[in-house]
Amino acid sequence: MPKYMQFGSNLELGVDAMDQEHREMVDLLNQLACACGVEPCWPVPVEPRPAPEVRHQRARALLNRLEQAAREHFLSEEAMMSACAYPELEPHRTEHHILLAELRNLLQSIDSGQERIGEAVLRELKLWLLGHLVTSDKAFAEHYRQTRDATLERWSSTRLERSLSS
Ligand SMILES: [Fe+2]
Ligand SMILES: [Fe+2]
Repeated sequence: MPKYMQFGSNLELGVDAMDQEHREMVDLLNQLACACGVEPCWPVPVEPRPAPEVRHQRARALLNRLEQAAREHFLSEEAMMSACAYPELEPHRTEHHILLAELRNLLQSIDSGQERIGEAVLRELKLWLLGHLVTSDKAFAEHYRQTRDATLERWSSTRLERSLSS
């Protein structure tokens, strides 16, 4: 199946909740690429190619979904960071705010007709997502996995001690 952006093992961070939501955002980008004609749709659509205005409306609706998915994802990531006392929570939160502002700016320029949803916008969105995922998210995932493993280790040795002393 042709895809604009592959979610391969290079993007998996080893934290299920994060990987799942990142995969959903990549999937929305792929649907967007298909809706605006940058990537051929698969399976081959049976309906005739929609009019440009219809394609634009579909693409615009997908961008809204991407904005909503990003907003929810950022909140859930921040909750995970807070739960494991991640020291870089504040700079990471700031980055999320900047990313959302960039996405909203893009939506505004599309709505005002300054920008049209096409290859350049897709490329911008791909870099927007990738840039954060492979740097800041990757760093947090590393911290999260280490914290989780240490907690599990502590928990299992406490259980072992208890069972030995009983
Ligand atoms: Fe993030
Ligand atoms: Fe993320």
